[in-house]
Amino acid sequence: MRQGYIAVLDSGVGGLSVLNELIKLLPNERFLYLGDNGNAPYGGKSLAELKAITEKNIDLLKSYDLKALVLGCNTLSANLYREISDYAGVPTFGVYPPIEYALMLGGEVLLLATERTAERFKGIDRLTTVGLRNLARDIENNIYNARAINVQKNLLQYSVGDFVNKSGHYKTIILGCTHYFLVKNEILDHFRPQNIISGDHFTAKRVYDFLQQSNSLGNYKRFSVLFLGDFSKFNQRFSVCGGQSGLNFLKNY
Ligand code: DGL
Repeated sequence: MRQGYIAVLDSGVGGLSVLNELIKLLPNERFLYLGDNGNAPYGGKSLAELKAITEKNIDLLKSYDLKALVLGCNTLSANLYREISDYAGVPTFGVYPPIEYALMLGGEVLLLATERTAERFKGIDRLTTVGLRNLARDIENNIYNARAINVQKNLLQYSVGDFVNKSGHYKTIILGCTHYFLVKNEILDHFRPQNIISGDHFTAKRVYDFLQQSNSLGNYKRFSVLFLGDFSKFNQRFSVCGGQSGLNFLKNY
């Protein structure tokens, strides 16, 4: 048994979907959540910028006693995992679009992600990859009023392979940015896929397996979350999340 925080890092509210999955599997841990709203969105930034921003954030997180770091952000995980993990010096886990799993389900697959993430996964058979420039930003900015996020308009800015008009065409949609869980229903309505998946659960499972195998599971009576950043914003954001995505545990906290 090893006490200490499991830190979750994202550019804002997106990583809450990963935190949610972590809490389901690890209900006896202390979590630290850093939503870096000041630097959001990450998706269009250069890798050098992202690396510098993340090193600062890790310095802050490391002023706490960490037993693991979870990147609740596909953009950081897909592009800078090795550098971040080396810098952090604690067991580090990323969240990734579950592409292999989606392809295994058969049919055509659509990966919706930030530009940086989309670039990483181009050229795979049966996979259409689209980098949405503004969707994470719009979600982050309109989180108090999620209905104001015009997902259709966002999608219509892109004409990559005419993917937007292919309702019913994709068997599986991968939400390759953790922010998109907040507009999952709109994406479902637009594309009408059989499956819509993301990497959150897979990440949480890897963290669980690691802690269990290294005999490092916490034994607190119940989980707790310490939020870093603009707490008042987060508080309001949580109510929105609670209403929209079933993250009701956050309301009760
Ligand atoms: N939520 C993050 C991701 O999964 C980053 C979104 C952004 O800030 O652009 O990629």
